[in-house]
Amino acid sequence: MSYLLLYSTQDGQTKKILTRIAENLRRTGIKCDLRDLATLKQVNLTPYHKVMIGASIRYGHFNSVLDKFVIRHQKQLNQMPTAFFGVNLTARKPEKRTPETNAYVRKFLTKSPWRPDLCEVFAGALLYPRYRWLDRIMIQLIMRMTGGETDTKKEIEYTDWEQVDRFSEAFLQMPCNKAS
Ligand SMILES: Cc1cc2nc3c(=O)[nH]c(=O)nc-3n(C[C@H](O)[C@H](O)[C@H](O)COP(=O)(O)O)c2cc1C
Repeated sequence: MSYLLLYSTQDGQTKKILTRIAENLRRTGIKCDLRDLATLKQVNLTPYHKVMIGASIRYGHFNSVLDKFVIRHQKQLNQMPTAFFGVNLTARKPEKRTPETNAYVRKFLTKSPWRPDLCEVFAGALLYPRYRWLDRIMIQLIMRMTGGETDTKKEIEYTDWEQVDRFSEAFLQMPCNKAS
C-alpha cells in the first residue's frame, strides 16, 4: 500500500503535521511519499492508493501551488480516495476548527473542482521571533484584534496533536476503492 502526502508550507508547521501523519501511517506498514508542492515538478498519481494534501494560510490565502496542483490533477484526484487539511491561526479557536466553520477551508472547498473525501482544519503555530519585522507587526495587529497572543518574544504551537492522530486514523480507515 502506497500513499502520497503533499504539503504547502511557509514556516514548516504544515510539513511537521504531515510528517506526524506519515509516521503514524508508516507504523502500520504503509509506504508514504512526502513531497513539497512548491518544488514538485511532475508526479504520477497512478501508483498511489490514496493522496492527502495539507496547506497553510498566509494573509488570507493558500499558496497558489495548491490551486495549480488541484486544477492539473482534478480528474484523478476525484477518482481516488483523497483528504485535505488546512492550517491557520484562526483555528486556534476550537469553534473555528472545522471545515464548515473555518472560513479559509470552507471557501477553498466551495470553489475547488476537487472533492476530497475527508477534510480537516488544524491550528498552526505562532512564531513571532522567526517572522520578518513587517510580518511580525501585522500578525501582532491581527492577534490584538482577535484577542490572541501579542508578546512578540513568544513562540506558541496551537496544533492539537491528538486531533492530527485521529485524522491519520480516519485516513487510514478510508476504503481504497472509491465508488464512482
Ligand atoms: C505572514 C503570515 C500571515 C498569516 N496570515 C494568516 C491569516 O490570514 N489567517 C490565519 O488564520 N493565519 C495566518 N497566519 C498563520 C499561519 O497560517 C500559521 O502560522 C501556520 O502555522 C503556518 O503554517 P506553515 O508554517 O505550514 O506555513 C499567518 C502567518 C504568517 C507568518
